[in-house]
Amino acid sequence: MIRPADLPQEGALLAQIHALAFSPGWAAPELTRLASGPGAFALVSDESGLILCRAGGGEAEIITLAVDPARRRQGLGRALVEAAAILARDHGAEAMFLEVAESNLAALALYARTGFETVGRRPGYYSQTGGPPVDAIVMRWHLNSGPASPYS
Ligand SMILES: CC(C)(COP(=O)(O)OP(=O)(O)OC[C@H]1O[C@@H](n2cnc3c(N)ncnc32)[C@H](O)[C@@H]1OP(=O)(O)O)[C@@H](O)C(=O)NCCC(=O)NCCS
Repeated sequence: MIRPADLPQEGALLAQIHALAFSPGWAAPELTRLASGPGAFALVSDESGLILCRAGGGEAEIITLAVDPARRRQGLGRALVEAAAILARDHGAEAMFLEVAESNLAALALYARTGFETVGRRPGYYSQTGGPPVDAIVMRWHLNSGPASPYS
């Protein structure tokens, strides 16, 4: 079940999920700070997935998205993105943006499948240990009108 994270109490849960997908993951205080800012929201699914977004000025941004490797390719990532899009629309967003490393084929495929289109590139945006920097692909999804959010 996808639900809003209860912050700050569940900051540790966010960090636990984030660390399953990223190394190093972000610390609980950082995730709590990001998810508690103006227009920000975080959704979680059990202890397996999270999405953190920020909405404002008619736009929304995916800050991070993480799914437990043991739960991948079961539709959870896409469900989190779609749930976040509904909530972003409730926040007045007409479009959702994100940046993703051009080497992240899984995420690129997920976003393309969801409805995002490539609108830009930031050369050398992500640094890598032991390798050259990687470009970021900037993607946008126009949010159509639809059902009201079950989370608001
Ligand atoms: C990217 C990520 C969130 C995808 O989560 P997921 O739950 O496995 O994604 P879904 O099961 O919802 O996949 C939906 C679609 O995306 C595409 N996709 C997802 N993973 C893919 C992969 N490894 N290879 C190719 N296509 C993939 C497929 O089209 C898939 O549909 P299908 O399974 O019916 O073919 C997950 O791999 C992850 O946490 N990665 C590490 C963190 C990360 O990169 N976050 C995004 C940063 S921008």
